[in-house]
Order: sequence, then structure tokens, then C-alpha cells
Amino acid sequence: MVQAKKALAKRSGRTKRQRPNTYQNYIGGRWVPGASGEWSENRNPADTRDLIGRFPRSTESDVDQAIAAASEAFDHWRLTPAPRRAEILFRVGEILIRDKEKYTRDMTREMGKVLKEAGGDVQEAIDCTYYAAGEGRRLHGFTTPAEMPNKFAMCVRQPVGLCGLITPWNFPMAIPSWKLLPALVCGNTIVIKPAEETPLSTYNLIKACEEAGVPPGVVNLVMGRGSVVGSRMTSHRSLRLISMTGSTETGRVIASACAERNAICSLEMGGKNAIIIMDDADIENAIEGAVWGAFGTSGQRCTASSRLIVHKKVYREFSKKLVERAKALRIGNGADPKIEVGPVINEDAVHKIMSYIDIGQHEDKATLACGGHHLTKGDHAHGYFIEPTVFTDVTPDMRIAQEEIFGPVTSVIPTKSLDEAIEIANGVQYGLSAAIYTQDVNRAFHAMNETYTGIFYVNASTIGAEVHLPFGGTKATGNGHREAGTQVLDIFSEWKSIYVDYSGKLQRAQIDNAE
Ligand code: UN1
Repeated sequence: MVQAKKALAKRSGRTKRQRPNTYQNYIGGRWVPGASGEWSENRNPADTRDLIGRFPRSTESDVDQAIAAASEAFDHWRLTPAPRRAEILFRVGEILIRDKEKYTRDMTREMGKVLKEAGGDVQEAIDCTYYAAGEGRRLHGFTTPAEMPNKFAMCVRQPVGLCGLITPWNFPMAIPSWKLLPALVCGNTIVIKPAEETPLSTYNLIKACEEAGVPPGVVNLVMGRGSVVGSRMTSHRSLRLISMTGSTETGRVIASACAERNAICSLEMGGKNAIIIMDDADIENAIEGAVWGAFGTSGQRCTASSRLIVHKKVYREFSKKLVERAKALRIGNGADPKIEVGPVINEDAVHKIMSYIDIGQHEDKATLACGGHHLTKGDHAHGYFIEPTVFTDVTPDMRIAQEEIFGPVTSVIPTKSLDEAIEIANGVQYGLSAAIYTQDVNRAFHAMNETYTGIFYVNASTIGAEVHLPFGGTKATGNGHREAGTQVLDIFSEWKSIYVDYSGKLQRAQIDNAE
């Protein structure tokens, strides 16, 4: 009997029954269970038999405790000189480097992206940590002339206060780091809620903060559902700022809740990014960029190249080669280094993406040039795998060319001119990233100037932003803020303008004449 059970377990890929790891929230410097005693299971999207662990399904009272801890820690942290805060943050970077390999494996296991990309995600967190920590010795303000004599004018940055950070599953360490590290270097204390699908990578980041010596209460981790934890954070009076990366729909809800109580709200949301491929483009290079941008991270990036606008002179050649490359991609468990495209995140994602593939074929009547299947057999039987999918003969108004699919699906749209291509690129509700492949510098600069997006690439894909340049978009992608770069400091600090009048008398600006 026991042997039969063992044989069964072996066949199903399990050799022994292990108790799942159980994780806790981090509040006020202590690891504590959620108040409800309820858990969410975190399973591997490439093989759902693989249970990674149980994570707290927290309640409003957990959020309240975390906010109370952040409040208690705030004065000490804001009064710690910024270069000292930065020293601690540099140590976070050292820990991330030391444990990069483990974090990478953890991330592939919980999120599905292939090992190379998961390593890139961790590296982005490392880069962001060092870059943000470097700001501890800058955090520049400025001085400027005053209108009146014997008067000095300057401007300094001050922390915002308590910040709530709500992060997505597609970059489960990089995006938390984009928010967390700048928030901390500016002297804020924070409560972070990671996506329910990927709590482990954020847990790893917070563990690194603890080990580095970030004082208790400065960083608080509360795991659970957006509808409970996220919603409580968003409406809590003590959180001066909410920073969220996620869907445009969720962003709207958060923005409304923040507007109710005049909280600062910084949002990074959807994208429908286009690569323009001109007739003079290096086609092989453009194909590589398109494949990487459309199918990297299984298309689950807000920067994904979900539209390929191709000059009609090279449209046939480009489409044919793209389909050949897409068909050759190896799909499977990203833990295998030979795999190029991992699973999508969960069953809901499968339904959403498959429904768009259906819309593309039947409602839009585009040509399904390759892919389109949900893979359910053999190595794919226990995960959420969708074939890299290319639609051709797509027109700009089709739903698959307008709506964010967030999966391995891209649309090839023919165009007759650069100006038309730019019009198509701009003709969506989003404005995150765009790209052009051309050998003509005039065309490249013209397209750069005319596309209304926050990011633009020449002879490169729409993905691959670096942490020292501002990241964000226009229109429905954002609400005017930029993360990364030094621009992120404008989210996480408030400007204070200071006037020092050393004339020894009353000088009235705008009224008295300066002599
Ligand atoms: C996202 O898709 O949410 O530029 C972020 C990139 C990455 C970040 C993507 N560095 O594609």
C-alpha cells in the first residue's frame, strides 16, 4: 500500500509529502501571522502540483497594525540623516547580490518567467537599490535668487510621510524595489502589499531589508487580497501616499479613493506598445526585437510589444520570418534553461488571453498566423501555457489592436507611411512605450518626437527600461508621475520652499520695490 502510494507520488512528480512552508507578515520589526488565520496557497504556474507555500490572507486589522508601526517609526527614520539611511540601503544591495541565484529560482517558481528573465528582475532590484541609495548623498534641493535684497531663497526635499505601496506580480522584485528604495531614502516609512500571486519575491526583498538593519516599523509587509488589504490601505487616512503598479481599472479605483481624502497617488498602469518597422529597417534585428518584446515574460509586461506596425514594402517578409521564429520558441517550465517562453500567471489569465485569441479570429476577423492554443498535454499538462501567437492583417481599430491582452499575443498591422504608422501608434488609450526600426536618423527623430509615450526606443524593442531613467507613460498608462531616475524622488518627497530675510526690516514681495 505504502509502496503503491510512493509509486503514484513518483509518477505525479512528487516523491515525498512535505509540509508547505508557511510565511508571515512583517509588522513593526516582527514576523507575525495574519489576524484571520487564513492563508493563500502560492503555486507554481508551470506546475500547479508544486506548492511553494502558504501566505497570510490578511485583514483590515493587520493593515491597521502595520500603519501604526510605520507611524511609530516615522520620526526616528525621517530624522536619521539621509546618508546614514543610504548606508543601510547599500547593505540591502549587497544582500540581494549575495542571494541573487536563490531569489531568481524562487521567482521563476512562483511567477513562471524563465530563469534568465527572473535573474534580470532581481538585477533590476539590485540596480535600483544602489541607484536609490546613492541619492542619500544627493537628494538635491536648490537655491535661487530672491526678489528682494538681503533675502535668500532655497528649496529642500522633505519626506511625504507614511506610504502605501501596492505592487504587481509580473516584476515581483523589481517593481517593489522601484517604490520601496526611493521611498526609504527620502525618509518615509512604508506598508507594502505584494500581489497575491507572487508574495515570495517581495518577502525575500523585505527579509533583505531586515537583515541589512532597516529599523523596525520602517518597512512593513502585509500580504493578502487587493479587495481587503489594498482597499484598506487606499482608504486609510494615515497613508499620505499610495503608489500602485497594476491595471488601469484598479488604478482608477485607487485614484478615486485617494481623491476622497486628498492623498497623493502615483499610478503605473497598462500599455499597448507599438514597434514601427520601416522599409529600410534591418529586418533580422527587428524580428529579434519583436520576438523579445512580444513574447518575453510571456507578453506579461506593461511594456510588451503587442503591436507591430510594418511598412507594406517589408510586411510580407517580416510577417513570414516573425511567424517562423514564434513557432520555433520553446515553451515550458522556465526553470529549464532551454525554455524560452514560460507559462502565464494563472487560470484567469488563460481565460482572458484565450478569449482575446477568439475575439481576434471571430470578432475582429484578423488572420491567426501562428499559435493560438492553450497547451494542456505532456509537459504542459499541469501549468498555464499558451502558444506564442501572431495575428496578421490586423487593422488599428480591431479590439486585439486596442486592448491590453497581457499575454503572448501580438498583432502585425500593415502601414503605407511613417506618418500613418505614428498615427496608428498613438491611436490607443495608452502611452507607455514605443519603438522604431529604421536606418534613417530623420525618420527616427521624427517618430521619437511625434509619439505620445513616456518611453521611446530606436532600433530596439519596447521593453528593457533601465533604472536610472524615468519610467512611466502618458494617457491611461499613468497619472503624470515617473518612477525610477531621480524623478522618482518627486513622488516620494515634498518640496519645501524656504525664504530667509536678513535685511532686518519688513520687505513685501510683489509690493515693495527692490533697491
Ligand atoms: C512592467 O512591464 O511592468 O522595461 C515593467 C521593461 C522592464 C520593466 C517592465 N525593465 O520592460
